[in-house]
Amino acid sequence: MLAWYRRVRRDLPWRRTTDPYAILVSEVMLQQTQVARVVPRYEAWLERWPTAEALAAASPADVLRAWVGLGYNRRALRLREACAAVARDGWPREAAGLRRLPGIGPYTAAAVASFAFGEQVAAVDTNVRRVAGRLGVAPEELLPAGAAAEWNQAAMELGATVCGARRAACGECPARPWCPSAGRVVTPPRARGRRAVRFEDTDRYARGRVVAALAAGEGLPAGLDAERLERALAGLERDGLVVRDADGAARLPG
Ligand code: ADE
Repeated sequence: MLAWYRRVRRDLPWRRTTDPYAILVSEVMLQQTQVARVVPRYEAWLERWPTAEALAAASPADVLRAWVGLGYNRRALRLREACAAVARDGWPREAAGLRRLPGIGPYTAAAVASFAFGEQVAAVDTNVRRVAGRLGVAPEELLPAGAAAEWNQAAMELGATVCGARRAACGECPARPWCPSAGRVVTPPRARGRRAVRFEDTDRYARGRVVAALAAGEGLPAGLDAERLERALAGLERDGLVVRDADGAARLPG
């Protein structure tokens, strides 16, 4: 697996650093957005806020504005809050401590702990869980001694490029000789019957439109039905992404 990874690995900017802040930024961005779209946003973000301290000192409104288009805006505020905790208390160097930071779940904690601090823990995202499931083992059983960081990247790379949810390219897989699922992966047909809800008809879309419009200084977006707009505003206000002035006007916080 490691030899395969060294041969095929994509040269991604967050794979060239052990800076925990840079790694955290990349992992939070990658939770929602494809690698190719994250790369330029990651580089611009680090240029603007090169350290956890710098991000902690930024206003929530600026952070939200810089996040627009990356999905789930709440993550941006949580990332800033995590950096505020780091600026105050320093970096926890183990996954258990990282998990106590705002917005950091078990996967992200393990990713930062292994990539930045060399902790020997498995970072298990949906790709890695699927790969291990097909191999018939627990992800933790696979960790080679002393090589967690590289192993975690390798397992992710395998899940992203070879052992896909919908396409398993078993012929290209370094684990094929040991894999009980080799050549037998059956992917379910795309869900049929249930009519897909257009993204444009979801509350999440409306919330994204509101934050993007406010971030661009355009006021509230046009073209959303009034009820959905109101629901989006109420949800955003509840989550601290939008504040309303005394006269009811909505704006980004801070
Ligand atoms: N997706 C989540 N984390 C990743 C990483 N470190 N490299 C590539 N894709 C990822």
